[in-house]
Amino acid sequence: MSMEITPVEKGEAVHFHNPAIEFYNAVGGEEGMRALMYNFYDKIYESDIAHFFPQDEEEFEAIKVKNTKFFIQICGGPKVYEGESKGVDLNEYMIRIHDDFSITEKSRIEWLGTMREALQELKGVDQGLIDNFWDYLENFSKLTVNSFSDGSTYYAAYTQVKED
Ligand code: HEM
Repeated sequence: MSMEITPVEKGEAVHFHNPAIEFYNAVGGEEGMRALMYNFYDKIYESDIAHFFPQDEEEFEAIKVKNTKFFIQICGGPKVYEGESKGVDLNEYMIRIHDDFSITEKSRIEWLGTMREALQELKGVDQGLIDNFWDYLENFSKLTVNSFSDGSTYYAAYTQVKED
């Protein structure tokens, strides 16, 4: 079955690949990524993790714009997020951005479930390519979890990232 969620293990090495450019092309490049990400964030606004995000509409819009730029770049499109990450490796920068929030496994599952809904609404994109994008999200999102049920925190080091 595709688009499954496997549990995070505190401190484990996380293996991931950046998404394939074929996914980016299949959704329709920059325009398509924008439509996907705006749909995702509209769902986030209605989700159980809405409280993590700014409630002010303009601030929320700014997050949508930045988030879309990141996904355009990480999927192999033009380097439109480069200015934000200031030369730091894109994935490392993204882990550190999330350090400012207390993200639990439950929040990660809600985030992924919301993304799954948005991906299921894509029209005419090969499921194999969607699965490729999903695998990146499913694995990478483990590195954003920093708060655990025993009350402890753990901030993933980029050194625990393993490229296959
Ligand atoms: C594959 C996993 C994820 C990716 C690639 C990702 C990507 C991003 C990006 C690109 C941004 C905008 C960064 C910027 O300001 O330039 C962002 C911000 C944020 N993400 Fe994630 N995210 C992921 C998982 C999660 C999860 C699981 C949560 C759980 C709650 C989360 C919560 C947030 C929050 C709260 C912000 C910041 C909002 C603010 O600045 O007020 N993210 N994320």
